[in-house]
Amino acid sequence: MTTLEKAEAAEHALSEELDRIVLKSVIYTSGERDPRQPLIRPDNGKLVMMGPDPRLPKMPDRPTLTDFFRLRFGPTQHMMQSARLAQKHGAGEKVVMACLVHDIAIAGFIRGDHGYWAAQLVEPYVDEEVSWAIRYHQALRFFADESVGYAYPAMYVKLFGADYKVDPYIERDYRYARDHKWYMTSRMICVNDLYSFDATLRVELEEFTDVIGRNFRQPKEGLGFDASPSAHMWRTMNWPSKYL
Ligand SMILES: [Fe+2]
Ligand SMILES: [Fe+2]
Repeated sequence: MTTLEKAEAAEHALSEELDRIVLKSVIYTSGERDPRQPLIRPDNGKLVMMGPDPRLPKMPDRPTLTDFFRLRFGPTQHMMQSARLAQKHGAGEKVVMACLVHDIAIAGFIRGDHGYWAAQLVEPYVDEEVSWAIRYHQALRFFADESVGYAYPAMYVKLFGADYKVDPYIERDYRYARDHKWYMTSRMICVNDLYSFDATLRVELEEFTDVIGRNFRQPKEGLGFDASPSAHMWRTMNWPSKYL
């Protein structure tokens, strides 16, 4: 068996053990399988998954941002190290907060256009300037600003090729952001964004308890269970295999 086949077999065995049927959302598999092909729900008498997935760590009933960091997000050192660097550079708390969550979409939701997704996720809970900065770090990161010593990341040449050109909407949003009063807040995310972070350094989330407490309005019902415009997105991260 190839590695992929082995992984698929292991996944199949794991889902066989479940007492619920899981049908993955199209976006999880699009490209690997033809999204136009129907997903066949096995008719094996099992019910479908309609809540927490038992394969995932159990979340509290009223999850906080910290719970998502610990129990749902992929590696978060990059964001925490960036936030610490921002502190070291003497940045204000808005910038530190923005750095701390700037890539949560990559860590827990969807990679493509991650700055826009992350901004939407946190928008109801942070200062408008913080979510604005997160949205536009998506575009600013592709453009140098020598006034603050930000060069086009060498890593992007490696990742996207030397002749990579950003999409027109990124260029448009960069131009818009460049003339905005909050431009520097967003630019500071890029300046403190550690493109190659230190694998030996370990930053703990506790370091930011106070920053989060002062800059993130945690809903009392828990993230995902308040009536905010992004609550459903937090619920989806909490229960990613929910059938409907
Ligand atoms: Fe980012
Ligand atoms: Fe980043």
